[in-house]
Amino acid sequence: MNTDSIREEYLQLVATVREYVQEQLELGFTELQEPQPESPYATFDLRQLDADAQGCTRCGLHATRNTVVFGVGDPNAALMFVGEAPGADEDRLGEPFVGRAGKLLTDIIEKGMHLTRADVYIANILKCRPPGNRNPASDEVEMCSPYLERQIELIQPKVIVALGSFAAQKLLNTKTGITALRGEFYPYGIAGQRENAPMVMPTYHPAYLLRNPNAKRDVWEDIKKVMDFLKQG
Ligand code: URA
Repeated sequence: MNTDSIREEYLQLVATVREYVQEQLELGFTELQEPQPESPYATFDLRQLDADAQGCTRCGLHATRNTVVFGVGDPNAALMFVGEAPGADEDRLGEPFVGRAGKLLTDIIEKGMHLTRADVYIANILKCRPPGNRNPASDEVEMCSPYLERQIELIQPKVIVALGSFAAQKLLNTKTGITALRGEFYPYGIAGQRENAPMVMPTYHPAYLLRNPNAKRDVWEDIKKVMDFLKQG
C-alpha cells in the first residue's frame, strides 16, 4: 500500500465519521450520557420490583392513582412494547393497554404478529396514571424511570417497540419526533452504552392510529421489520 492510498483511505474514513456524527446530530442525539448513579433496584428481580412499585410514593401521582400498572407478559420476552402511561381503563384494572388503544395493540400482536400478549412484555414509561391523561411531567418520568430501566435490564428483550413520541424520546434520549424516528432501529440508550443493548423500533402510538387510521400502514411496515429482526435469531 503506498502513501497515497493510505491517505485516500484515511480521508474516506474521516468523511464517513463526519457524515455519521452529522446524521446523529440532525436526529437530535447528543453526546453519550453521563454515567448513571447506581439504580436503587440494581439487585431486585421482577417480582421484588413489582412489589416495590405497588407501594411507590416517589412522585405525586400516587395520590390520584387507583392502581399501579407495572407491566405484564413474559419475563423473558424477546419483544417488549413500551407506551406512555396508563389511562383510565388501565388505572382501574392494573394492566397496561386494555382500553381502546390497548385493543388495537392487542390486534397488532395477535392478528398481525400471530403472537399473544403473554408472549411479549408490555409496560409504560409511567406506572401511574396522570390525572385526566395529561402529559407526564418531567419529575414524574425521572422518579419512575428506574422501574422501567430495571425491567428492561431483567427482561433483556431483543427488541423494544416504542409506542409514540413520548416513549421513543425517552428510550432513545432524543427530542426528535416520532414521524422522523419511526421505521428504523436504534440501540436503546436510556442507561448509556451497554453491550448487547436491545434495539428500539419507534412507531406510532395505537391511540394515534385510532385518530389517524391511514397511519396503520406505516405501523405495519415497522412491525414487519421487527418480525424479520426477531426471526434472525
Ligand atoms: N396508552 C399508553 O401509553 N399506555 C397504556 O397502558 C394505555 C394507553
